[in-house]
Amino acid sequence: MAHDTTEQNRQMTHFDDHDALWLFGYGSLIWKADFPYLERRPARIHGWRRRFWQGSHDHRGTPEAPGRVATLVAEPGAACQGMAYRISPATLRPLDVREKNGYLRELTPLHFDDGTTATGLTYLATADNAAFLGAAPLDAIARQIAAAEGPSGPNRDYLLHLETALAELGVHETHVSDLARRVRALNPCHA
Ligand code: BEZ
Repeated sequence: MAHDTTEQNRQMTHFDDHDALWLFGYGSLIWKADFPYLERRPARIHGWRRRFWQGSHDHRGTPEAPGRVATLVAEPGAACQGMAYRISPATLRPLDVREKNGYLRELTPLHFDDGTTATGLTYLATADNAAFLGAAPLDAIARQIAAAEGPSGPNRDYLLHLETALAELGVHETHVSDLARRVRALNPCHA
């Protein structure tokens, strides 16, 4: 289930002549910032909802048994809280490779807690990408996450890290916490 978006993302040159840009993370980027950054600030984007609707065949699952990871789904009136990193444009190159399984760079307004805004970039996996799995009953999503494991580790760790990171930001999101509760019940030794 490979659909490598690396080259498509590299053609998005919007920030190439900037000294720095804001990258918005709403999934693993919240807790796994394994790239250099100049500054890190909680931020939110409007009109988007976080959902475990993207398949992961390369990080938290395999082509035979994909996991599920977060993407953003457009929803008027919604908001998604995450973490913004000010980075150099060169830092996007390895991220394009890390997030190549269907994620495309998308420009978005960022809102910071102090009321300021900036144009930022986020990686978005839309319904037309080859790895998109879409909506499913929460019990089914939880069973898939509890069972999946890939080169980056167990899928449940991704979910539970996200739950913890959101709690540290003071964010409670029922989609994430309801899934985490179900996955803990399925894997009690990892609760
Ligand atoms: C994120 O944390 O925002 C993210 C991570 C991987 C792919 C897409 C988004």
